[in-house]
Amino acid sequence: MDLSDCKHLGFSGNHLKSLTCKCLVLSGFVLLFRALLFPKFPAFAGFDANYFVSIQSDSSSPLSLSNVESEIRKDKFVEAPQIVWGLNNQKIALARACLTARMMNRTLLMPSLSASLFYKEVDQLQPISFDKVFQFDKFNSLCNGFVRLGRYSDVSNLTDVFELQKGSGRKWTADRDLDQLKQSSKFPVDGYEVIKIIGKNPFLWHDHWPVKDYAKIFECLILVDKIAKDADRVVSKIRDNGKKVNHRPNLDKISTVNSESSELQPQLPYVAVHMRIEKDWMIHCKKLEQRSNKTQICSSKQEILERVGNIVGLKTPSVVYLAVADTLLEDHSILNGWREGLIPFVKKNLGVIGIYKKYPYLIQSAIDYEVCVRANVFVGNSFSTFSSLIALERTHKMIKLGVKDFCDRDVRWPSYAYNILGESKGPQRWTTDMSASNLQAISYGSDDISC
Ligand SMILES: *[C@@H]1O[C@H](CO)[C@@H](O)[C@H](O)[C@H]1NC(C)=O
Ligand SMILES: *[C@@H]1O[C@H](CO)[C@@H](O)[C@H](O)[C@H]1NC(C)=O
Ligand SMILES: *[C@@H]1O[C@H](CO)[C@@H](O)[C@H](O)[C@H]1NC(C)=O
Repeated sequence: MDLSDCKHLGFSGNHLKSLTCKCLVLSGFVLLFRALLFPKFPAFAGFDANYFVSIQSDSSSPLSLSNVESEIRKDKFVEAPQIVWGLNNQKIALARACLTARMMNRTLLMPSLSASLFYKEVDQLQPISFDKVFQFDKFNSLCNGFVRLGRYSDVSNLTDVFELQKGSGRKWTADRDLDQLKQSSKFPVDGYEVIKIIGKNPFLWHDHWPVKDYAKIFECLILVDKIAKDADRVVSKIRDNGKKVNHRPNLDKISTVNSESSELQPQLPYVAVHMRIEKDWMIHCKKLEQRSNKTQICSSKQEILERVGNIVGLKTPSVVYLAVADTLLEDHSILNGWREGLIPFVKKNLGVIGIYKKYPYLIQSAIDYEVCVRANVFVGNSFSTFSSLIALERTHKMIKLGVKDFCDRDVRWPSYAYNILGESKGPQRWTTDMSASNLQAISYGSDDISC
């Protein structure tokens, strides 16, 4: 890999080398997309697997333009259809639309996200503007030179539009898709001020981009202040409870946490577990296991409890935040049976339901996501998109900090997958392969996750 490839990620040569040398694992793509492409959202309602079967796995020619550092044109635009489904599908779709626009050297017109998960009833999708969730200017400044978002008011001639119909079906291969994008980057299509992409939502477009390009875009997604403050409140509540249970905190360990924060007081560590045990997930994952002939996808509540309890080196007492589906919010049994010294909290006993309730689905999940990303230790399911993007973001954060050995037991932000058995009957350590040539390999479920 060429080092310049990664300049935009802010890697230094050393970090990159250590990354490539030590921690590049796997790369065999999961051949089970049909079965695995089911990025169900953790905390909320169900999903229809049929929506995902048309995604194809044959994206053979990853395309990275990452080493080109130049301005994106501000007078040519791409318009994408409304972005739908769960938070993580929406983030992936948004990034994919950005990368498509980048390939055409165009600004992406700020797309609508969807506040609700009623994906079947189009009239209930509740479009929500990107800038109601993420900071628009911040996005463009952080992603400057890489991708760019624009507003409809930037378009000078709203009728100067070329409608680009994305193909569909089996015959619409990744190669054909890429070819179409290349053709559309040339005369005569390039002459149009706006290229409007018609058809499926961007989550279902072919993927032509490496994981690190996605990571770069996720990094530019900063929650608007109001939501970020509420995420802070939830995190503080969790840490406050940590203070109550933990009278002699290990301060030197703790003070390193969340170094972006300007708070001077030490921050108490917590574990976040993205616990997928609700009924519809269990049905889904059992099917997945059958179809893919794997056994390590579903984990029972008992298995999760045990494995989290066996994490080597986990300091106790410690607060454990359980990110669970809404349907489990009233299920008090998930608070029982934890190893001594692990004190479990859900939104209810934390007293934060009020914070969540004022928001629609999308923002509730964005807050939960934030809470999990910031946790000192994260434990999730490697077949969940939600967990996978968290693991990715945490891996990226470690790379930027210059962590050399992700497998080190004392690494700062370890993530684990409870569905895979690791050392000492604990969960498997989980690091995202940032060198993967497309997102499918890491985000739609894999059991090949070790550091
Ligand atoms: C995009 O367009 C700008 C302005 O015309 C140009 O300077 C830049 O080199 C182009 N970038 C790419 C990747 O072609
Ligand atoms: C806007 O674009 C349309 C289609 O390309 C063109 O016919 C029209 O003249 C343009 N209007 C202006 C004011 O440039
Ligand atoms: C599933 O795995 C088992 C054991 O690994 C093997 O014997 C069996 O043939 C596999 N079935 C299929 C359909 O691949």
